[in-house]
This record gives sequence, C-alpha cells and structure tokens, in this order.
Amino acid sequence: MITNDIAQAVTIIASGKLCAIPTETVYGLAANALDESAVARVFEAKERPADHPLIVHVATTDDANEWITELPQWAIKLTESVWPGPLTIVGPRTALASDSVTGGQDTVAVRVPGHPIAQELLTELKLIGIKGLVAPSANRFGHVSPTSASHVLSDLGEYLSSHGDLILDGGECQVGLESTIVLATGTNPVVLRPGAITSKDIEQITGIAVSSQLANAPRVSGSLDSHYAPIAKVVLIAEESTAVSGTNSGFLALAKVPTPNGLVRLGSPSTIDDFAHELYGCLRSGDDLKLEIIYVVPPTGEGLAQAINDRLQRAAF
Ligand code: TXA
Ligand code: MG
Repeated sequence: MITNDIAQAVTIIASGKLCAIPTETVYGLAANALDESAVARVFEAKERPADHPLIVHVATTDDANEWITELPQWAIKLTESVWPGPLTIVGPRTALASDSVTGGQDTVAVRVPGHPIAQELLTELKLIGIKGLVAPSANRFGHVSPTSASHVLSDLGEYLSSHGDLILDGGECQVGLESTIVLATGTNPVVLRPGAITSKDIEQITGIAVSSQLANAPRVSGSLDSHYAPIAKVVLIAEESTAVSGTNSGFLALAKVPTPNGLVRLGSPSTIDDFAHELYGCLRSGDDLKLEIIYVVPPTGEGLAQAINDRLQRAAF
C-alpha cells in the first residue's frame, strides 16, 4: 500500500481512489477534486465533518486561476513570489469548485505545493485531464498532522488498505507545519492560519499591511481551539521552570534547554526551523511511548515561532 512510484499514484487517483501524498508542509490525503464520490471518501477516511472545506492542490499559478475567479493585485504578487510553496490562498470560487470542496462557501482554498513529487504528480494528472486534488492533512480529524508516510499509515492505514487506496512515500516533510492560509478577498491580506510564510514575508512581498483575522472569517478547521492534539496531554512551560517532574512524562525544547529530571526527551531541535520540522513527529512519539504528559518549552520570537506557538496552544487546549 506504500509506494514511491508516481505512475501508480496517477493510476489510483484516476480510478477514483484516494492517495496520501507528500508535500513540503505535511502529507495530504488526496482525491480528484472533481470526483464527488472520491471527495466524499476523503471526509469518511478522516472522519471529518462535511462542512469543513478542503484545499485544492494544483501544479501552477495558471491552474489556480481555473478555481479562483479573480484575485486582488497584492495576492497575484504574493502567489507569483511564493508558489510553488507553503501558501494557501482563499479566493472567490469558479464553477469548478463544488459545495463539497468548499463546505458550501462562496470561496475556495487553493495551493501550489513545492514538493517535487507533488509537483510531478499534479503535472502528470493534468496531462490526463485531472485539474486538481483536494488534500486535507492525512490524519484522523483533530489529530496531529502527518509529516512522514509512517505517520499516515498509523492514523489511516487500516482504512486505506481496506479500500484499496495508496500512500505515496516522499520521505519526511521539510517544513513540518501546515501551509499559511491567506484570505484574498479584500484590500488587505488576512492570515487565517499562520505558517512558514509569515505575516512579515507577506507584508514585504505585497507592501500591504496584514490585517488580523476577521470575526466573521470563513471557517478554518485548523482554527478550532482544540486541534493538532496528540493523545498525551500537552503542557506548555517556561524555559526556567524546573518544578516539572513526573513519571511517564516527555519533554520537548530547543537543544539549549536541559531536560528536567525524570522526563523523557522527545526532541532537541537546534533551530526554529528544526523545531517546526520535528514538532509533530515528537508529539507522535510521545503517544507511541504511551506518555501521559508532554511538557513543551515553546520557542520565542516572530515568524515561524509564531506558527509553532499557534499549533502548540491548540495541542495544549
Ligand atoms: O499544508 C497544508 O495546507 C496541508 C497540505 C496537505 O497541503 N493541508 C491541510 O489541509 O492542512 P487541512 O484540510 O488539514 O486544512 C485546510 C484548512 C482547513 O482548516 C479549512 O477549514 C481551510 O483550510 N479552508 C479550506 N477552504 C477554505 C475556505 N474557503 N475558507 C477558509 N478556510 C478554508
Ligand atoms: Mg488538518
């Protein structure tokens, strides 16, 4: 069920089945975005509520224009600068985007992933008339996103194998956090989900101030308060907290922070980038070790550190 043969993935997707695919952010559970029954099975596999919209993945910026009617000039500049890359744009939908993909909203989320395997897959699919793939993160709904094929296997393996679906193995995801989602329906960019493309990047590229999330912004399932959570309880602590101790507890912090007595070290990332890259794998390994609590010292600072803090706060909720 796990393969690294892109041609096999093309065949599976064209036959209406599902295929977990690598991207530079996290693994996605992909299906032909124009095949209603395949899209329905994505919701079934993830046990995801039907009103949570999906991201459409396409090979190029031109392909994205088939799904979004029009974008403001700042958003065109942004996509030209970042795509292919870890950015999702939400814009007004064309008739291609069905209600099942958008959750009934009049906008659609589109992304051009940069992972070479995802790029090749999307390009091959385009040649046989498949215009885009829906691909939510390939985890059970509410769980930590997968950053390797084995993570997908442990969350969805049983479902996928019993339905003849596939996992396309592209190694570990480089970024390790889901894409930045930007709402592009107004005069200013609105970040709906922080990620590797930071607000500062967006302001630098577009020359326009990023506004904070609107109260009535469209639903983002990753913005539910409790999300991205392992089974173990996640507790966020300050670097200087020495009072933590415990049996059956894990610890994750930058390498410079020593391990408190008695805790199991789950990771020692030396940079913020490494922290993002390792985060979900560390939380998952805490569950594999059947730990009860995972103590995490969140990294401080701007940019990617903010995206990490966003995910950690939801995991700890
Ligand atoms: O990095 C990523 O974005 C990964 C990889 C696989 O591409 N995908 C991912 O998908 O994180 P998912 O389904 O786990 O998260 C997609 C988010 C959801 O929170 C969803 O609510 C939001 O995108 N979304 C989709 N369509 C939207 C829309 N029209 N308006 C607002 N949010 C939308
Ligand atoms: Mg997700």
